[in-house]
Amino acid sequence: MTMRTRNLGTTGPQVSALGLGCMGMSALYGAADRAESVATVHAALEAGVTLLDTGDFYAMGHNEMLLGEALRTAPAALREKALTSVKFGALRDPEGNWMGYDGRPAAVKNFASYSLQRLGVDHIDVYRIARLDPDVPIEETVGAIAELIEKGYVRHVGLSEVGAETIRRAAATAPIADLQIEYSLISRGIERDILPTTRELGIAVTAYGVLSRGLISGHFGRDRQLAAGDFRAHSPRFQGENLQHNLNLVEALRKIAEQKGVTVAQIAIAWVLARGEDIVPLIGARTRERLGESLGALDVTLDAADLAAIEKAVPADAAAGERYPSAQMAHLDSEHRP
Ligand SMILES: NC(=O)c1ccc[n+]([C@@H]2O[C@H](COP(=O)([O-])OP(=O)(O)OC[C@H]3O[C@@H](n4cnc5c(N)ncnc54)[C@H](OP(=O)(O)O)[C@@H]3O)[C@@H](O)[C@H]2O)c1
Repeated sequence: MTMRTRNLGTTGPQVSALGLGCMGMSALYGAADRAESVATVHAALEAGVTLLDTGDFYAMGHNEMLLGEALRTAPAALREKALTSVKFGALRDPEGNWMGYDGRPAAVKNFASYSLQRLGVDHIDVYRIARLDPDVPIEETVGAIAELIEKGYVRHVGLSEVGAETIRRAAATAPIADLQIEYSLISRGIERDILPTTRELGIAVTAYGVLSRGLISGHFGRDRQLAAGDFRAHSPRFQGENLQHNLNLVEALRKIAEQKGVTVAQIAIAWVLARGEDIVPLIGARTRERLGESLGALDVTLDAADLAAIEKAVPADAAAGERYPSAQMAHLDSEHRP
């Protein structure tokens, strides 16, 4: 299979049409198997996936060290094609509690120094603050990344979960490759004013939560036991009646998937791929099996009739429950309505 490619905006690199998000290999979705995680990164690289996303606060360095190990042990020819996308800025205590964000220039450079070491690389391809620090103007945070670019430690500036006004201010400070933000059949908020803004400014979208953290993967059932540290144990969309409502949407989607001879996850990923050449879904696969299923989405073509049927089965605002618990929603600049 030849991997399709997309551009990370008008100023960023060319990347595989699907990126691999490594978060779940270390944190937030229950136990993961380290050897299988490394094997999944290798399998992704072999399949032509070039974009690998992580964050320094995913189990406090664990995810970066895991990715570093995977890169170190990959064949050199594949390692050279790999592009790292790293988030920083989230402050967490030893129990994993979220304590805010730090986007001060000195902090940005400090975070980057640790990330370079943990990843074992001489530069980071795309560097972004995970959430806007409300106490630091975005110009200062982006300006610090621009200084790291001048010194060769970073290649491109990215953004994460910020709204249209912040995107404009950031883009006026330095070229922005992409905005990383949640986008899926049941998280379509960006279509209102964020996506028109990124398109106007030539910024790509790296979409996460394309399977709504497994909820619309077709593999998630009411009987799933979630550990206390699992994000989904606290996510409004996975609770009680909301969960049942959302799983009913999945069953409507399953009928369409079955008619096309594909899986629910594949149709959900294919739908995001079909929303525009400027959108790169980040797949949260933690095993080679899930990765293989996700990559199959690249072969799914959705025609106008398919898209209409999907829209009917899962209308734009059909999901029950917000995409984050309220305390975390408050940190989303992208959700602050002008
Ligand atoms: N910028 C931000 O604020 C932000 C926030 C969250 C995530 N991210 C990034 O985006 C990446 C993707 O997000 P996400 O992990 O929430 O995405 P996702 O793809 O919506 O959810 C991944 C979960 O779906 C389940 N799943 C079921 N079938 C799957 C399949 N075929 N392929 C992949 N996963 C399947 C997996 O659970 P099982 O393994 O149990 O099957 C996995 O834990 C993350 O890894 C992270 O790098 C960024």
